Amino acid sequence: MLERIEEIRAEAGAAIEAATSSAELEELRVRHLGRKAELTTILRGIAELPAEERGKVGGAANGARKELEALLEASAARLDASELDAKLLADRVDVTLPGAPPRPVGHAHLIARTTRQIEDVMIGLGYTVAEGPEIEHDYYNFTALNHPEGHPARMLQDTFYVQSQPEVLLRTHTSPMQIRAMETQPPPIFVIVPGKVYRRDSDATHSPMFHQIEGLAIAEGITLADLQGTLLALCRAIFGDEREVRLRPHFFPFTEPSVEVDVSCFQCGGSGELAGGERCNLCKGQGWIEILGAGMVDPNVLGFVAEHGYDAERVQGFAFGLGVERVAMLRHGVPDLRRFFDNDVRMLEQFS
Ligand code: PHE
Repeated sequence: MLERIEEIRAEAGAAIEAATSSAELEELRVRHLGRKAELTTILRGIAELPAEERGKVGGAANGARKELEALLEASAARLDASELDAKLLADRVDVTLPGAPPRPVGHAHLIARTTRQIEDVMIGLGYTVAEGPEIEHDYYNFTALNHPEGHPARMLQDTFYVQSQPEVLLRTHTSPMQIRAMETQPPPIFVIVPGKVYRRDSDATHSPMFHQIEGLAIAEGITLADLQGTLLALCRAIFGDEREVRLRPHFFPFTEPSVEVDVSCFQCGGSGELAGGERCNLCKGQGWIEILGAGMVDPNVLGFVAEHGYDAERVQGFAFGLGVERVAMLRHGVPDLRRFFDNDVRMLEQFS
């Protein structure tokens, strides 16, 4: 009996130590220490043994059981650790791999891209970029921009006012930032201001919200020729090296003189005629396309920022305001401005 116990102990002990998985270990536990195991049967039968054998056999069988239990526990710990290692290794995820299927990369909206292109050109000319509030004070939107009381541009139908605060409105142009920019720094100043503006308009070429880029240059000795040269550089960068610009007289309350600026048509090269002899549809046979409003900053405007170092006797400059949608429509042949904001991906994806 003692020999058999020793055999079981040695055989089961070796098997437990050699086990390579916790499933195998569990199977060995059931086989050697379970209810039907030989060792268990021996232990159960001890009471029936002759009295002189009970002590020895009982001691040996209990010793064997304790030893096997200890071995099982040690092997379980060893296997748990290595199985966890193996699992972690197998489950390892390379977070730098693309997902499956790879997600298409999005792209900036055509209006944002056009804005950035214009910003790039102007930054190249030495301008900085500033942004301002879309909810604006009447003072910045109108008063400080030399709109006299009762000027038609102040009338209710031209903009959106905040009902409880009649002096607060959605800005109708980016020009208020001329004043705000000059309030923050003395001349010389060369700044552009991209941003959203709002008007009570809606048709194929107008939407209640659209984007402008304002330009402002104030320093000593700036002239209308500087304005023309700057806009020529901008138009050539955007519409092609062959372009020309022309200035036509116009009116804005905050510039004097004021001009409207045309760029020579980039479809017909300015002739107004296409290769086949038919009238150019882009410029309607004119050879020129209106592109923005501009002018020399009115001394009255500088009067509102005189305490910030803007002495109209000493410094002068120009300002311009350009519609981003208009530029994008012209360049890409988009027939209706409102399509930019329908967010139909079939439309947007064409400009990736
Ligand atoms: N703010 C004018 C507009 O929205 C454009 C403009 C800007 C004109 C700067 C002159 C100078 O129509």
